[in-house]
Amino acid sequence: MYPVTLAHGRLALRELRFDDVDDVHAVYGDEEATRHLSFEPRSREQVGQIVAGCMVSATTRPRVEYALAACEADGGRLIGFARLALEGQRAATIGFAIRPDRWGIGYGSALVALLLGLGFDGLGLHRVWAARAPENEASRAVLERAGLVEEGRIRDHVHVRGAWRDSIVHSVLEHEWTRAGA
Ligand SMILES: CC(C)(COP(=O)(O)OP(=O)(O)OC[C@H]1O[C@@H](n2cnc3c(N)ncnc32)[C@H](O)[C@@H]1OP(=O)(O)O)[C@@H](O)C(=O)NCCC(=O)NCCS
Repeated sequence: MYPVTLAHGRLALRELRFDDVDDVHAVYGDEEATRHLSFEPRSREQVGQIVAGCMVSATTRPRVEYALAACEADGGRLIGFARLALEGQRAATIGFAIRPDRWGIGYGSALVALLLGLGFDGLGLHRVWAARAPENEASRAVLERAGLVEEGRIRDHVHVRGAWRDSIVHSVLEHEWTRAGA
């Protein structure tokens, strides 16, 4: 599926472009935004490589990665990064981040609702899952609101900031998903 354009209330998802690098860096280069992620803040050059890689994967067939810009519907400013990656049998993992000066006003919940709509309605998936840091309470709140139930812990899942870190896994299955949030 290309190009992807989705909207939910005040948030829209679209394909990434080269001129998004600075706005993506405002998220992936930020200490606060990456505190609970599986990597340390990225440099602008690293973000440039990530965006370029996402643009290539967007047009690769079969498409297995949907790395998308999350933008304010009003004005179109990029305020977050959304990712759905296919793996296994009709399954995908999702990841997401919003720039800190836009936290707490519903964008994270809208973003996850849009990714679930893409996964279940758009791609016909059976299972969508996400892994969060155990301390990441904002992610827990957003995932639970979207219907992803907690299903367990992956021990020593990622090595980041010089130490191993567990992840808490959440998932939702196609028959559990409701379009209420989408
Ligand atoms: C997780 C994240 C995307 C949420 O984005 P957001 O736009 O603030 O999300 P929303 O406004 O839709 O909802 C945030 C929810 O988290 C809750 N929350 C925020 N901080 C919290 C905390 N420290 N403890 C408990 N709940 C918290 C809010 O109360 C809200 O829930 P509510 O609406 O039920 O009250 C954002 O915090 C972020 O980008 N974090 C950094 C990247 C990240 O952790 N990504 C997830 C990887 S698994």
